[in-house]
Amino acid sequence: MQISLAGQVALVTGASSGIGHACAKALAAAGAAVVINYNSNAEPAEELARQIIADGGHALAIGADVSKEDEVERLFSETLDTFGTLDILLANSGLQKDAPAVDMTLDDWNKVIGVNLTGQFLCARAALRIFNRQGIRQGVSRAAGKIIHMSSVHQRIPWAGHVNYAASKGGVDQLMQTLAQEVSHQRIRINGIAPGAIRTAINAKATADDAAEKLLELIPYGRIGDVEDVANAVVFLASDASDYIVGTTLFIDGGMSLYPEFRGNG
Ligand code: BGC
Repeated sequence: MQISLAGQVALVTGASSGIGHACAKALAAAGAAVVINYNSNAEPAEELARQIIADGGHALAIGADVSKEDEVERLFSETLDTFGTLDILLANSGLQKDAPAVDMTLDDWNKVIGVNLTGQFLCARAALRIFNRQGIRQGVSRAAGKIIHMSSVHQRIPWAGHVNYAASKGGVDQLMQTLAQEVSHQRIRINGIAPGAIRTAINAKATADDAAEKLLELIPYGRIGDVEDVANAVVFLASDASDYIVGTTLFIDGGMSLYPEFRGNG
C-alpha cells in the first residue's frame, strides 16, 4: 500500500513536542504541506518547519493557544493565507494537570478541559467551515476533509488522580462521534486515535526506570509505545487508504485497553 498526501495541507495542533511533533513530521514525509502549531514553545516548531523545507517540503510554524477562540480563528486564517486550503486537521494539543480530585483546583480542571476538549471543538469547527466551503478537491482526496481527534485510552479507562484528563478524553470520544454523525454525509471523515503509554514528556516519570517496569504490567504487548507508532496511524487515517473508516477510534496501546489485570483473574 502506497500512501501519498501530496497536494494536501495538514494542520497539527500541539506539534512542538511529543506525539504532535512526530505526526507533523510523518505527514510531511508523506507529502503534505504542514502547519505546525505550538502554544508557548516556538523553537522546536520553527526548527521542524526548517527541516521539512530543507528536505524539499512545505511547512509553517504558527503559535496559537487552541483554548482561545480568537487565536484558533487566526491559526486557521493564517493557514489559508499561506497554503490556500486545508485538507487534514489533527486536533492533538493536550496536557495533564494531575491531582487527587479533593485537591484539584478549578483552574487545573478548566485548563485541561479548555485545551483538551474545548480546543478540539474550536479547531474542528474551524476546519469544518473550511471543508464545507471547499467540498471535494477532485484528484486530491476522495473526502472533502479529514479530522483526526487525538484521544487516549483514558476515554475508556477511568484514571484515579487524573479526573480532569479522563473527563476531557471521554468528552473527545463523544465530540468525535457526534461530529462524525453530523457531517459524514458531506464526505467529511472524522476519526479518533486513542494512544496508550507512548514515551513522551507528558509521562516521562511513568516511563523511566523502575516506574517503567510497573507500567509494563499494564501493557500485554510488553513494550512502551513510540511516537512513530501513533504517527504511522495518523498518516493512514489522513489518507484515502482509510476512506471507508468513519467515526471510529483506533486504539494504539499495546493492548492496554484489554484490562490485562483480568488475565488469570476474575
Ligand atoms: C497519558 C499518559 C499515560 C497514558 C497511559 C495517556 O493518555 O497522557 O500520561 O501514560 O495515557 O496511561
